[in-house]
Amino acid sequence: MKINFINLQAQYQKYKEEIDFEIHDVLDTSSYIMGNKINLLEENLAKFSGVKHAIACSSGTDALLLSLMALDIKKGDEVITTPFTFIATAEIIAFVGATPIFVDIDEKTYNIDPSKIEEKITTKTKAIMPVSIFGQTSDMESINKIAKKYNLKVIEDAAQSFGATHNDKKSCNLSDISTTSFFPAKPLGCYGDGGAVFTNDDKLAEKMRIILNHGQSSKYHHSHVGLNARLDTIQAGILNIKLKYFQDEINKRQEIAIKYDKNLNNVITPFVDDKSTSVWAQYCIRVKNRDEMIKKCTKKGVPTAIYYPLPLHLQEVFYYLGYKKGDFPITENISKDILALPMSAFLTKDEQDYIIKVINE
Ligand SMILES: Cc1ncc(COP(=O)(O)O)c(C=O)c1O
Repeated sequence: MKINFINLQAQYQKYKEEIDFEIHDVLDTSSYIMGNKINLLEENLAKFSGVKHAIACSSGTDALLLSLMALDIKKGDEVITTPFTFIATAEIIAFVGATPIFVDIDEKTYNIDPSKIEEKITTKTKAIMPVSIFGQTSDMESINKIAKKYNLKVIEDAAQSFGATHNDKKSCNLSDISTTSFFPAKPLGCYGDGGAVFTNDDKLAEKMRIILNHGQSSKYHHSHVGLNARLDTIQAGILNIKLKYFQDEINKRQEIAIKYDKNLNNVITPFVDDKSTSVWAQYCIRVKNRDEMIKKCTKKGVPTAIYYPLPLHLQEVFYYLGYKKGDFPITENISKDILALPMSAFLTKDEQDYIIKVINE
C-alpha cells in the first residue's frame, strides 16, 4: 500500500469543478490582484473565526511580520515565544531587529508553558507570541492574564490551528492579533503561499491593511513603511471553496485522531486539554527508537515526518542569542522522539488500519 502523508490530490479531485471554476474566473476577468474574491474571503474568514477583522495576506510568515510591524516592535525590544515551533515564528522577531526570548514548553501539550513566562519578562519585553502547535491552542487565559499584568501584547501564531477551539472560542479570536498560514499542507491550505491576520482592534486592523499594501493610505499616498504582502486573488478563490467544506474536514480529522488514539499501542499519543479541540495539523506520537521506526515505516510504505528535529534555540541562526544545550530540557527531549503520522480528511479507513498495524508491529 502506498499512502500519502497528506492527500491533497484526493481533496482537489473532490472539489475540482468548483475550484477550477474559481481559477478560470480569475483568468477570464484578468482580476489578479485584490478585488471581490479577496473581500469575500476576508468576510468568510471573519465569520468562521468570530473575529471582527480578517485580513488576507501573502503567507503565514508575512502575517507575523505585519503583526510585529503594526505593534511597532523593533530593535531593542524582546518578544517571548517557544523554541518548539517552525523557524518562521522566531525568525520574524529577529527580522524586525527584536530579540526572541524562548520559554520551554508544557510536556503534555507541547505549547509554551505559561508558568515559565513571568521570569523572562524584562523592561524590554513588548509581546508574547504563543504558537498553537500541531493544531491546539496554548493556555490562552493564563497567557492573556500575564500580558495584562505587564501591559504586553499577545500574538497567537495560529499557522497550524485555524479552526481549532479553546473554551468554545475559535483560535485566532483569543488574543490582540493572530496569524495563520494557508500553506498547502496546512489544515486549510491554498495552492501556493497564503496567510491571514486577525484582530478585533479597528486601529490595528487599519494599520495592517495599510502596511500590507506598501503603506498606502490612499492611492499613491503612503503613510507607513510597508510591504507587498497581498494574497493573490486566485488563492482567495480557491480558499473560498475550501472553506465551505472545512468544518466537515475538521470533523473527519478529529475522527481519524480518535481512532489513532484508541488503537495505537506502546507509543505516547497526543494530549488535548479538555478546554480545547485540535484541528490536527499534525498527529504526532512519541516513540522509542525513532530512527528504527522511521526505517520500518518507510519500508512498508507508511510516510512519517519529524516536527521538529532541532529546537530553535540550538539553530545556527540563533547562536548569537547565547543559548546552549540543556536550556530547554522538555523541548529538547520531545524533539528526540516526536514522530508525525499521515493525517488528512482524505485518509481512508483501509489506509489508517494499515498504518496502525504497521506502527503496532
Ligand atoms: C508555527 C508556524 N508559524 C509560521 C509558519 C509560516 O507560515 P508560511 O509557510 O505560510 O509562511 C508556519 C508554517 O509552516 C508554522 O507552522
